[in-house]
Amino acid sequence: MSILPVVTYDDPVLRKPADPVDPDHPELQSFIDDLFETMYEANGVGLAAPQVGVSLALFVVDADAITEDEDEEDFGPGVFINPEIETVEQEKWDAEEGCLSLPEIREKVTRPDTIRIRYLDREFQPHEEVHNGWYARVLQHEYDHLKGILFIDYLGAFRKRLIRKKLEEIRQGSVKAEYPLASKSQEDSPQIDYKFKESR
Ligand code: NI
Repeated sequence: MSILPVVTYDDPVLRKPADPVDPDHPELQSFIDDLFETMYEANGVGLAAPQVGVSLALFVVDADAITEDEDEEDFGPGVFINPEIETVEQEKWDAEEGCLSLPEIREKVTRPDTIRIRYLDREFQPHEEVHNGWYARVLQHEYDHLKGILFIDYLGAFRKRLIRKKLEEIRQGSVKAEYPLASKSQEDSPQIDYKFKESR
């Protein structure tokens, strides 16, 4: 397994819809293992493939660190391939979110409480589940990554202005994280260099 460098918000891969995942995609299982290892290394509760520069409709989640704190049900590690989410109830709530692609930024985001998710697991078995609370929030945040949406997109003009300087620092590569970020160096050098990508 390997820890993959995480791309930051300004990388175009985070702004385009991710491609559907094919069951015979090369090295898919080891890529999923790498996503988990990278997420745990970064103390994240979710990580989407585009966040490591791979435009595939796939994310991993382990939100137990949050759900335990909040006295909600724990679901353990989960793999979500080609997911579709729909809102079940329009009731919404605010909570602070962060994102491994936006180091040092935390902002309140309003999201629907209850969602239905249809997805394939890592064996490509189909599932349909209804979730609420924090787990549903994490799923929605990761799902957004597959649609080219970042949580800062939901902020009002005032909050957006307040984080502008920090965004610029991230873009310039002057914000450090406790996990590897994809290099911001010369355009001609590959941004990310790891086994999975080389093998494609
Ligand atoms: Ni994120």
